[in-house]
Amino acid sequence: MREDQIAAAKEQFESLLREQLLRQERLARCAESRDYAAAEHIVIGLADGDGIGPIIMLQARRAAEKLLAEEIASGRVELREISGLTIENRLRCAQAVPKETLAQIKACDVLLKGPTTTPKGGTLESANVTLRRELDLYANVRPVSVPEEGIDWIFFRENTEGEYALGSRGVELPGKLSMDFKVTTDAGTRRIARAAFEYARANGKRSVAIVTKANIMKKTDGMFSRIAHEVAADYPEIETEDWYIDIMCANLVNPAIRSRFQVFLLPNLYGDIITDEAAQIQGGVGTAGSANIGSRYAMFEAIHGSAPRKIESGEGDYANPASILKALEMLLRHIALPQKADRLAEAMRVCTETERRVVVTGHRDGASCRAFGDYLLEKL
Ligand code: IPM
Ligand code: MG
Repeated sequence: MREDQIAAAKEQFESLLREQLLRQERLARCAESRDYAAAEHIVIGLADGDGIGPIIMLQARRAAEKLLAEEIASGRVELREISGLTIENRLRCAQAVPKETLAQIKACDVLLKGPTTTPKGGTLESANVTLRRELDLYANVRPVSVPEEGIDWIFFRENTEGEYALGSRGVELPGKLSMDFKVTTDAGTRRIARAAFEYARANGKRSVAIVTKANIMKKTDGMFSRIAHEVAADYPEIETEDWYIDIMCANLVNPAIRSRFQVFLLPNLYGDIITDEAAQIQGGVGTAGSANIGSRYAMFEAIHGSAPRKIESGEGDYANPASILKALEMLLRHIALPQKADRLAEAMRVCTETERRVVVTGHRDGASCRAFGDYLLEKL
């Protein structure tokens, strides 16, 4: 029995290794990204998701319709509803992203996506993880800012590798042990590092912090750190620092030094964890938007989940749409409409910082999601 299990695990490991090797070879031949400024037709897919998804997405849709009214009228931009990305449909099809839905998404250029529920246990993979892999969205970009404290951070989280690449395909010897796999590839690391340093250069940032646990995860994180430094050599004007994830988590709550960090570059799981921490420092996960960028596609979303507890307690209508609105702002920048993005950012600033006539708290004591949407529309 034991020998059979070991033989099966070896076989599984070999096939994973071969598959990931092919993947890394494909990545090494990576495509150029699209120039949206020259695009004649841009399709923006809108997928509601579950839980508070439809509630917050409604306000993002209204903002997009208003901001893009001209482009929609002229036919340059199309807003297209994507159907079937609900937990009911995903469970019914037993597919994390049903085939039909994936085909609709692939017919768009960019996607604005509400949060989707991932059941604990079972076999259904997270829709996010599936979409990031299927669309090869390798850069997860998450800005966080607290102007009054001088905090202006941007996180470049590798989005297709690390613990996520094979997260549902570990090995188990039931009742005895389990092993998951973590994958770091040369090409996969190079492209996320390039994205972070290019961003830093284009936006006048002085420093990039490479954050790993290379003292413990010697192979995977060791490689991530080494390649990140190789890429850094092409950007001599930018100071590169190495940090371990544990102390960096501590640094983010240390007001004496945190404002000196600017750009962070991290493997997938560390990026997942630290961006929730960073969002909390900004005012909660309800306030943070997220971009998932690849060379062909891009997907924009809130950093939080579908908040089923909020729906159960009847507080869904009080969900904060700020996260998805920030995602919309990033989407507009990505498709080369920076003035529209600035307009949205400025209206958000008036609504959430300077005027604050309508304040969402996420609970019944605050304004509803719709009331905030009305207020924002008035300021747009
Ligand atoms: C995020 C989320 C996802 C992740 C979940 C929903 C799979 O936490 O986007 O940060 O772990 O990446
Ligand atoms: Mg997360």
